[in-house]
Amino acid sequence: MNIKSVKGMNDIFAPVVNAWSRVEDTIKKHFRTYGYSEIRTPIVEYTSLFTRSVGEATDIVQKEMYTFLDKNQESLTLRPEGTAPVVRAVLEQNLLNSDPTQKLFYLAPMFRYERPQKGRYRQFHQYGVEVFGVQSAYMDADIIAMLRALYERLGLTNLETRICSLGCDNCRPQFRESVVKALSSKKGELCPDCQNRIEKNPLRVFDCKNESCRKISKNLPSPLDFLCSECQNHFDALRDNLVRLKTPFVVEKHLVRGLDYYNRTVFEFTTTQLGAQDAVGGGGRYDKLVGQLGGPSTPAVGYAGGTERLMLLLEEKFLATENLSVFIVAPDEAGLKEGFRMAFALRNQGVSVELDYSGKSMKAQMKRADKLQARFVIIIGQSELDRGIGVIRNMQTKDQKEVKLTDLEKEIIGSLN
Ligand code: HAM
Repeated sequence: MNIKSVKGMNDIFAPVVNAWSRVEDTIKKHFRTYGYSEIRTPIVEYTSLFTRSVGEATDIVQKEMYTFLDKNQESLTLRPEGTAPVVRAVLEQNLLNSDPTQKLFYLAPMFRYERPQKGRYRQFHQYGVEVFGVQSAYMDADIIAMLRALYERLGLTNLETRICSLGCDNCRPQFRESVVKALSSKKGELCPDCQNRIEKNPLRVFDCKNESCRKISKNLPSPLDFLCSECQNHFDALRDNLVRLKTPFVVEKHLVRGLDYYNRTVFEFTTTQLGAQDAVGGGGRYDKLVGQLGGPSTPAVGYAGGTERLMLLLEEKFLATENLSVFIVAPDEAGLKEGFRMAFALRNQGVSVELDYSGKSMKAQMKRADKLQARFVIIIGQSELDRGIGVIRNMQTKDQKEVKLTDLEKEIIGSLN
């Protein structure tokens, strides 16, 4: 039996992986320009990190985590998202002691046991940012405008930016109460899951994909109708700041995210080009999470986008084969000995070089140089060596010239520049 990759987990290889690398390089550069530094955390964490942050009643914790016991009977989980691990790391490494404002970014694989389909996988990748220690709505707008600029830089101009506010511990209870009241009156029309949610976590009803539940949730109250004056001011300031930066957005009155840690600002970038998986990425404020995980009370805000979804939109544009600079054609053993030495001399000067070790015919080697799209071919065999020369062939113009062996490396580097 042939062993296959695990369902919902994909290999990424050339030429697609080249497009990934280019896009990831652009993302990293962009985040660094905005003052973020990279953080890498382990793929596996203690399960309690996610149950305590993402939330017991969420789909992620209830249905989607890859959780297992290790040999020491500890419950571990493949991270389903990046925020909780970053908070854990920031606290464990005391990063807030050295600087109470931390701006961190990551690009990393995540794992969720979801039903795979286009844009939805069981291993997927996120690029994300997390900011700690800034309460101001300037920061919320800063992140949203930064992402909008990133997407524009990548050539995505038709994304929609949706924003909302979930309020805080002062005003959310009133919102929650009004949702419970509205849901209770429609209990019979809700799916069994949502009937249970009414008591446990009524706001998760907004996530339900069931048709009848969706109809009901559309008409539920919005958190925006219950904001206390401080949350209202924060939301107004966010909108003003976005307008100041000419960042377009729409207010989505029922933008409810699939994780429990948010308060105040939540936002998403969406597209109409990916069918059901329309969220390119999402984020928001989580001012309570650092405290909940045992740290000092610290405001925080962040975002994560899905790399696979981004690549579905961008792959073709960034697709390109990595060009090979030189292929050395050595038709005999004497030529191979010299070509072998020269390949390493050139490679160590930063030139990409390939050559053939299997003693194929000159014609076969030329064919391979063509296939690899080499810019130049160097031909060295016994007859060239006897005359102290090598031949350089420009594969595009088909021009060929003889060059003294001692000048060959210099000549080829000159031609490449
Ligand atoms: P999230 O909305 O769960 O947020 O995920 C963010 C993005 O990851 C989604 O919008 C989507 O593009 C991508 N994504 C999620 N699940 C899958 C999947 N199964 N297959 C492919 N792509 C997927 C978070 O994870 C939060 N940690 C974001 C955040 C950062 N909030 C504050 N800071």
